[in-house]
Amino acid sequence: MRIPFIAGNWKMNTTAAEAERLVLEMLERLDKIEGVEKVLCPPFVSLVAISMMLENSSIKLGAQNMYFEAKGAYTGEISPLMLRELCGFVILGHSERRWYFGETDEQVNKKVKAALANKLKPILCVGERLEDNEAGKTEEVVSRQVTAALSGIEPVRDLVIAYEPVWAIGTGKAASGKQAAATIQFIRAVVAKLWNKGIAQDLRILYGGSVTGANIAEFISHPEIDGALVGGASLKAEEFVGIVERTAEIKKRTK
Ligand code: PGA
Repeated sequence: MRIPFIAGNWKMNTTAAEAERLVLEMLERLDKIEGVEKVLCPPFVSLVAISMMLENSSIKLGAQNMYFEAKGAYTGEISPLMLRELCGFVILGHSERRWYFGETDEQVNKKVKAALANKLKPILCVGERLEDNEAGKTEEVVSRQVTAALSGIEPVRDLVIAYEPVWAIGTGKAASGKQAAATIQFIRAVVAKLWNKGIAQDLRILYGGSVTGANIAEFISHPEIDGALVGGASLKAEEFVGIVERTAEIKKRTK
C-alpha cells in the first residue's frame, strides 16, 4: 500500500516571520490528520525555525532545492549535509529550476544521487511544456526526464516523483484527473522498466499544477495518483489543511 502524500511547495514566498505564522495557523489541524504523509517545503531561511516548530508533530519538512556537492567554494549554494540535519525531503528538478535557472537533466541526476547518499528523500519533479504537450510529446519528455534523473541509481523506495506539467503550474489550468492519471501510469511503467515492477508499484507518484481545495478530489480519487505537490494553495492555511483532509477521506474510502 502506498501512503498518500501531500507536499506544500511555498516557493519564494513568506519572510521568516510570515512562514512561522503560516505554520502556526495550520499546525494543530494538520498534525491530527492521519493516513497521509504531510510535508512542508518553506524557503531555506525558515528551515531551522520550522524544524523546531514541527518537532514532536506528524508533519515533515522539505527543502526546495539543493546543490550536489557536500561542501566547498560554491558561494550561495546549500548542500545535502546542511539539509539533512534539518529536513527529510528535498524537491529536485522543479520546472522553475529547469526553465528559469537552466538546470539540466544531468544536474538533476547528480542532485538525486547526492540527496539519496545523504539520506534525504528526493521529490523528483518532471513534466512537459505546453509545446511538447501540443506536439504529443508528453511521454517522450517525461520518459527522458525520469530516465536521466535516475540514471546510475540503484532501485530505492525513498523517492517520490511529482508529475507537474509546466503549463499547469501557477496558471489555474490544472490537467484533468484522467490526463494526470494516464501520464502517472506511464511514469510508473518507465520506472518498472528502469528498475523493477515491485519498486515501481511501491513508489509514490504525485500530480502537481494548480491543485486547489476545489479540484483535489478529481486527482486523488484516481488510484494511480498518490497525492499532490501543491504550490499557490499551500500558502493558505485553511485551503492546504482542507486539501490534506480531503485526501485522507478519499484515500481511506477507496483503499
Ligand atoms: P501551483 O504550483 O500549485 O501553484 O501550480 C505547483 C508546483 O509548482 O509545485
